[in-house]
Amino acid sequence: MRLSGEPSDMAIFEQAGAIIRQGGLVAFPTETVYGLGGNGLNAASSGKIYAAKGRPSDNPLILHIAERRELTPLVENVPELAEKLMDAFWPGPMTLIFRRSALVPKETTGGLDTVAVRMPSHPAARKLILAAGVPIAAPSANLSGRPSTTTAAHVWEDLAGRIEMILDGGPSDIGLESTIIDVTGPQPMILRPGYIGLEHLQALLGEVAVDPTVFVKPDASLRPKAPGMKYRHYAPKSDVILVEGRTEQVTDYILREAAAAAQAGKRVGVLCCDESLGAYDFGEAPVRVLSLGTRSREESIAHNLFDTLRELDTEGLELVYSEVFAEGELGMAIMNRLRKAAGYHIVKV
Ligand code: TXA
Ligand code: MG
Repeated sequence: MRLSGEPSDMAIFEQAGAIIRQGGLVAFPTETVYGLGGNGLNAASSGKIYAAKGRPSDNPLILHIAERRELTPLVENVPELAEKLMDAFWPGPMTLIFRRSALVPKETTGGLDTVAVRMPSHPAARKLILAAGVPIAAPSANLSGRPSTTTAAHVWEDLAGRIEMILDGGPSDIGLESTIIDVTGPQPMILRPGYIGLEHLQALLGEVAVDPTVFVKPDASLRPKAPGMKYRHYAPKSDVILVEGRTEQVTDYILREAAAAAQAGKRVGVLCCDESLGAYDFGEAPVRVLSLGTRSREESIAHNLFDTLRELDTEGLELVYSEVFAEGELGMAIMNRLRKAAGYHIVKV
């Protein structure tokens, strides 16, 4: 359902809220990505979310709230650390991990004794939560293993026929999922990087740890603290190879390898940036070159990333070479998602 911003939209939110209260599923816009919402306090609703996404049920869901007072009944306690973070970044693209209260069903938290809570800033998300009158459990509204959705059309592509309603709020502003921070220990730890970067968090809190699997491939001895981060994720169907090195070497390598693969009959693509777009001239060779945005504004790259990963599939590309990006504030999140999309296939030149 398309939101017009008119007062008549209130009827839509009432309808959507009622669907959620009664155990149904509604996809909705947030400032990060689209969410697939159900009643977070109802075990059966959480079961439906896992089924609709095809998601393993050991992968916990985030509870979305609209007001601070909704947090208290969901958690055992609110550490001082969390208070500081909430004052600074809520409502917004930050999820905190707390000890779970008995009110939150184990089905929602994938059997864990902790619970993830986020207060989104998107007005439609907030209106929906208030209309539902319950915390909304919402993973990203994509089929499990596919890139997260940043438009209602993407949600439709993945979930049409599996859920009761899609609220269309236009393209997501940020385009990457929230920063997840565990505040249950003595030191805060980033479990998933997002729009709120390490430097901002350090400025507020001092020392901040980062789960090592944010940077390297998890394995049996190195398990991510956010269970969802162990799955192959954000992945287009094509094989993606990240190429790392000095700019000219990267461009030369990609020009050579992509042209050779296209010659060999593969459907090949290149992911680059506005700055390097002009360098990828393949002449007659049918190589599809896509820019993710400009390096001078990382937000543009974050905004376009999932959309572009989906485009690789739409165009039926088999092999894609991608440039990498600096691990700065937002760059940490961009590279975390890109490494996963590439299945950690990285070539150093
Ligand atoms: O921006 C976002 O966070 C979006 C929008 C819709 O709010 N939601 C989102 O949800 O990205 P999802 O389910 O796609 O990712 C949630 C991540 C998963 O990796 C999950 O394992 C982790 O959060 N998570 C949830 N509860 C957790 C917990 N109690 N402890 C550790 N990790 C948790
Ligand atoms: Mg997800």
